[in-house]
Amino acid sequence: MNKTIIAGITIWLAGLYPAFGADTWPVPEEYNAMVNPVEFNNQNVRAGRDIYDKNCKSCHGDPGNYNALPLVPPPPDASSEIMQANSDGQLFYKINIGRAAMPQFETTLSSDDIWRVITYIRKFDPRNVGKLVEEALRKGKIYALVGNNNSTIDIVAEEEVMDNTIPLSNTIIFVRARKTFGNLLVGSITTDENGRASYVIPPDMKVKSDGQVDFILSLNDDFEPVIFSVSGVQVKQPNTSVELPRVLWSTNDRTQVWLLFTYFAALIGGWAVIGYVILQIFKLARLGRNNKP
Ligand code: HEC
Repeated sequence: MNKTIIAGITIWLAGLYPAFGADTWPVPEEYNAMVNPVEFNNQNVRAGRDIYDKNCKSCHGDPGNYNALPLVPPPPDASSEIMQANSDGQLFYKINIGRAAMPQFETTLSSDDIWRVITYIRKFDPRNVGKLVEEALRKGKIYALVGNNNSTIDIVAEEEVMDNTIPLSNTIIFVRARKTFGNLLVGSITTDENGRASYVIPPDMKVKSDGQVDFILSLNDDFEPVIFSVSGVQVKQPNTSVELPRVLWSTNDRTQVWLLFTYFAALIGGWAVIGYVILQIFKLARLGRNNKP
């Protein structure tokens, strides 16, 4: 009986599978000849990579590594033949509409962003090898000082161009705050035509109890990796008042006496009740034994 049902389901699923097989994903005629309007260059490929890393990588894996999630049907690797056999328009349609475990991105990504992802996928098309001339990374430098009563970080950025140093104008500087686990992006700011920028430290910034923050400044990946740190900026007054949740979890020497007292009172009280109950049980047992006829 059970075997018949299982066999039935298996046959049914097997019949269903070809309908969802990778080679038979039908695409409406009008998409086939559509051409990606996004130019194939480093900047667009980088933009596409950022979108891919956020929205696609969790299932499709790192392109070329064939480390996609083991779903049925499987998400093809971006560099695979299955993926690259699609025309631009076919990719556009499939990403917009989705199928089975593949989500539709029509409502979550703009058309422009979907075309950028396709530009990134095309980076792994064997026919495109050598077409993308890797630009040499630019050489930037950042300097910074704390300004204006510890309320700003004043930044000067320069670029080395053929043995000359020129101001690095209209360029984004990323500002991060050092945390115990990694660095938190707290803002970004664009330099003016003189390569200067002034980052205003947010007044409501979360700080450690000493009120200090280490700021780390960096450029985007058009540049050779460069960072500049401004350490120990006294963003707020050191915090001397004691917050309750911190006390509970931090070391004993900052614990307040009333808290310790309450804690031990509760502890002793609890054990006293348990001890009393056990005592009563023993008494009952003894009574029971003594009263046996
Ligand atoms: C939740 C997992 C998941 C996510 C996230 C995901 N995909 Fe997919 N994708 C799949 C699966 C599974 C398939 C196979 C679907 C099928 O063949 O029915 C697939 C198939 C595809 C195909 C069709 C390949 C073919 O058969 O021709 C393309 C193109 C594609 N995905 C691109 C993307 C892009 C681009 C993103 C991000 C914007 C993305 N996918 C995000 C799971 C996912």
